[in-house]
Amino acid sequence: MKITVLGAAGGIGQPLALLLKLQLPPGSSLALYDIAPLTPGVAVDLSHIPTDVKVLGYGGEDASEALHGAQVVLIPAGVPRKPGMTRDDLFNVNAGIVKKLVETSARACPGACIAIITNPVNSTVPIAAEVLKKAGVYDERRLFGVTTLDVIRSATFVADLARLEPAKLDVRVIGGHSGTTILPLLSQLPVKFSEDEAKKLTLRIQDAGTEVVNAKAGGGSATLSMAQAGARFAISLLRGLSGGRAVECTFVADPKGRVPFFARPALLGPRGVEDLLDIGPMNAYEKQSLESLYGELEGNIKKGVEFAR
Ligand SMILES: NC(=O)c1ccc[n+]([C@@H]2O[C@H](COP(=O)([O-])OP(=O)(O)OC[C@H]3O[C@@H](n4cnc5c(N)ncnc54)[C@H](O)[C@@H]3O)[C@@H](O)[C@H]2O)c1
Repeated sequence: MKITVLGAAGGIGQPLALLLKLQLPPGSSLALYDIAPLTPGVAVDLSHIPTDVKVLGYGGEDASEALHGAQVVLIPAGVPRKPGMTRDDLFNVNAGIVKKLVETSARACPGACIAIITNPVNSTVPIAAEVLKKAGVYDERRLFGVTTLDVIRSATFVADLARLEPAKLDVRVIGGHSGTTILPLLSQLPVKFSEDEAKKLTLRIQDAGTEVVNAKAGGGSATLSMAQAGARFAISLLRGLSGGRAVECTFVADPKGRVPFFARPALLGPRGVEDLLDIGPMNAYEKQSLESLYGELEGNIKKGVEFAR
């Protein structure tokens, strides 16, 4: 398998590349592309780690060479938030970056699975879909918005509160990837929280990105936890592509849903998304939160589609 990371020299890109160098199946190759001049150096640095994963670095204006033959493309290229910014404030810069990189991917590796980390995910994924449609290579089973960070944060915060082992918790997080569009389904967990605890926990999960942005005080947003989340998603995707099975919540096309894209549990297999799984039972608070997130999510999706067109 060949995996390409676009934006590989950044705050997320570098630790993501490190985790992939350590975790990819033996015999894989890892292509690192970024417009930052240090990218070939990042690849040389990683190549000294003794695992059977070949690492190559690419720079310049054109990502084609890094993308040729890739089965999986991970995109964390773009600018991160600063204090006071919402993810939507990144739209003007990041929309163009994602559009260009997906156009190049459509030409260089048309059948690849593309996983987008760049925010605002609620809009960058619809942009990518439009670009792929225009290029005649869109397969809705092979395009993903990475929302795994919401899942791992939920497990950590729930485990903290309930004094459980986080690795044993699997929290479904549905909707989208910004503010109130992030909806963790806490009522499905074996541990029971009071209504007040569940509301506070939900708010903390929704605001967790901002917690990091404020703590970094202008130095960017989540990078290390995002790298871990991105590596987890990539490894699940690869397990599916190589004939295994994995389930991850991810922001994908939802043909039967109320909105065209929605984060939900998906069964990953050889074709990418093999099946969209049931969201499962919700309590009254979650049902109400779900109802009220559709409006914003629909607006974010529309904005991406209009930009791409
Ligand atoms: N999905 C999520 O849960 C999640 C979580 C955290 C951050 N993010 C997003 O990930 C993105 C990256 O964050 P970061 O902290 O790594 O930022 P960063 O600024 O540290 O790194 C971004 C990298 O992208 C590169 N880049 C910019 N334009 C490019 C282009 N056209 N082609 C290739 N590379 C390009 C830059 O040179 C830089 O190395 C941001 O949009 C951020 O909002 C998403």
